[in-house]
Amino acid sequence: VCGIVGYVGHRPALDVVLGGLRRMEYRGYDSAGVAVLDGGGALTVERKAGRLANLEARLDEVGREHFGGTAGMGHTRWATHGAPVDRNSHPHRDASQRVAVVHNGIIENFAALRAELEADGVEMASDTDTETAAHLVARAYTEGDTKGDLTASVAAVCRRLEGAFTLVVTHADHPDTIVAARRSSPLVVGVGDGEHFVASDVAAFIEHTREAVELGQDQLVVITREGYEVLDFHGDAAQAKPFTVDWDLSAAEKGGHEYFMLKEIEEQPEALANTLRGHFESGRIILDEQRISDQDLRDVDKVFVVACGSAYHSGLVAKYAIEHWTRLPVEVELASEFRYRDPVLDRDTLVVAVSQSGETADTLEAVRHAREQKARVLAVCNTNGAQIPRESDAVLYTHAGPEIGVASTKAFLAQIAANYLVGLALAQARGTKYPDEVAREFAELEAMPAAVQKVLSTVDQVRDLGRRIADSKAVLFLGRHVGFPVALEGALKLKELAYMHAEGFAAGELKHGPIALIEDGLPVVVVMPSPKGRAVLHSKLVSNISEIQARGARTIVIAEEGDETVRPFADELIEVPAVPTLLQPLVSTVPLQVLAAEIARARGYDVDKPRNLAKSVTVE
Ligand code: F6R
Repeated sequence: VCGIVGYVGHRPALDVVLGGLRRMEYRGYDSAGVAVLDGGGALTVERKAGRLANLEARLDEVGREHFGGTAGMGHTRWATHGAPVDRNSHPHRDASQRVAVVHNGIIENFAALRAELEADGVEMASDTDTETAAHLVARAYTEGDTKGDLTASVAAVCRRLEGAFTLVVTHADHPDTIVAARRSSPLVVGVGDGEHFVASDVAAFIEHTREAVELGQDQLVVITREGYEVLDFHGDAAQAKPFTVDWDLSAAEKGGHEYFMLKEIEEQPEALANTLRGHFESGRIILDEQRISDQDLRDVDKVFVVACGSAYHSGLVAKYAIEHWTRLPVEVELASEFRYRDPVLDRDTLVVAVSQSGETADTLEAVRHAREQKARVLAVCNTNGAQIPRESDAVLYTHAGPEIGVASTKAFLAQIAANYLVGLALAQARGTKYPDEVAREFAELEAMPAAVQKVLSTVDQVRDLGRRIADSKAVLFLGRHVGFPVALEGALKLKELAYMHAEGFAAGELKHGPIALIEDGLPVVVVMPSPKGRAVLHSKLVSNISEIQARGARTIVIAEEGDETVRPFADELIEVPAVPTLLQPLVSTVPLQVLAAEIARARGYDVDKPRNLAKSVTVE
């Protein structure tokens, strides 16, 4: 899960590469490094453990003037093989220091390759799998049929590598060329005027061009100032897909906010509106890509939602709606568990794979596992052309825009909305809802951006509360029905951002154990259902709150505006607008996101880059 960027053009490469790394730091921040080629055949490399800022400080120390040149590459690392220390930071070089390589992914057969190289007398300078690729390219370049041909050397090495990888390779003999290759890890080409880019994410070059090309599986690209050429791993010409990025630099910048997460929380109304836009036309729900027939959709007799983390919670929310609307059984499962058991699947099973990045390894493997058993796979994804949608039979894109903060916010809300569209598409195909009912549900969804906008007016109140409870030892979250996954999401946000013990429970389970945790002053967040929409559940939750309050809990209640019954039991009351029950998670999650971010900030943590985490988890 690393960020990589490569550049050949007319600008100082160091500036372009550092700019790209800055926008991809969310992909990993264990170390960063750059390599710049100057026209005279010098290859200069610098790398440093820790955040990009450490590398920049190091570059100032050694003098940036040593990095003159208009071709280069960079890397920001999330460590897999080898501790996050300078020595293991990318770029890695071969013994002659003529070849430099940056890599995202895992070379699974690296131990064998390393042993082979060591037997050949190569001394390894790091503990990484990547370094083997640098030595192998250098060897291919000096021997046999690939001698003197950088592209053929990289292709030959790629044919030997197992696992998932994006590699970017430079050679001091070719100061105007960068070769990059992809297998199951992301790689896009940026096409500029007299300059070309390669990167893990378009965010790296969006400042310079919005014209991009998405590389396919097992493809390799050679970029120069003048152009780019796409080949397969056998060196034959191959086709890749050009596209224009539909967002601009301002979407990837903080826009005056202290951190990206707060900006992304505030972008949620727009993310929802964009996700819904264009999906209901001529009275019908429309998917983005459908490579299965309508008949196959009609024949679906069981639904699995597979995902990880917050995306998994979006599936738990959607289960209530999809079962209600379609009368199909829906199972929601963690992708990492689904993959390694023996789920009952056949061609009439629809597996909905939900992933913001579209490259989460656990989810991708779950997709492959499902397809091997002939199940149909529908991807809900926020990243155009990522691996998961590429390998699916149908796709619905969430148009949340780039999510830079590591903790998911706007993508989560967009996932809920998209999952609901999947439910409506199924209901429509199966005829379990009349067309006017589908239209009504869609109209209710369309009213949600305005409702979420209204919740955003509570941000200051919630931030204030966050500061007041920032010293707590732990926080519990309770909910019922669709409020239960919201409680889980609230707890996950707090764990990952504030490094605080947090648990989400179904409130009905309280008496079966968790109530023992309640002690004086413990903050307990309760997500209330609507007193009108779910009167029975509402009154049960009121009883739960009074029970925990009697035992000393500090109750923080998220309730519908005008819910007077709950007021006496709420030490802190956060009001959200009244919306239909199934849509309530779209409003009640928002204060929990703000709460977690503010507690983290008050505790002095980096809200956008929580420790040990990376934005996309491309390792299992
Ligand atoms: C939590 C969070 C993660 C992701 C999970 C899945 O805030 O962001 O739990 O939701 O890693 O990622 P995607 O959606 O990219 O598959």
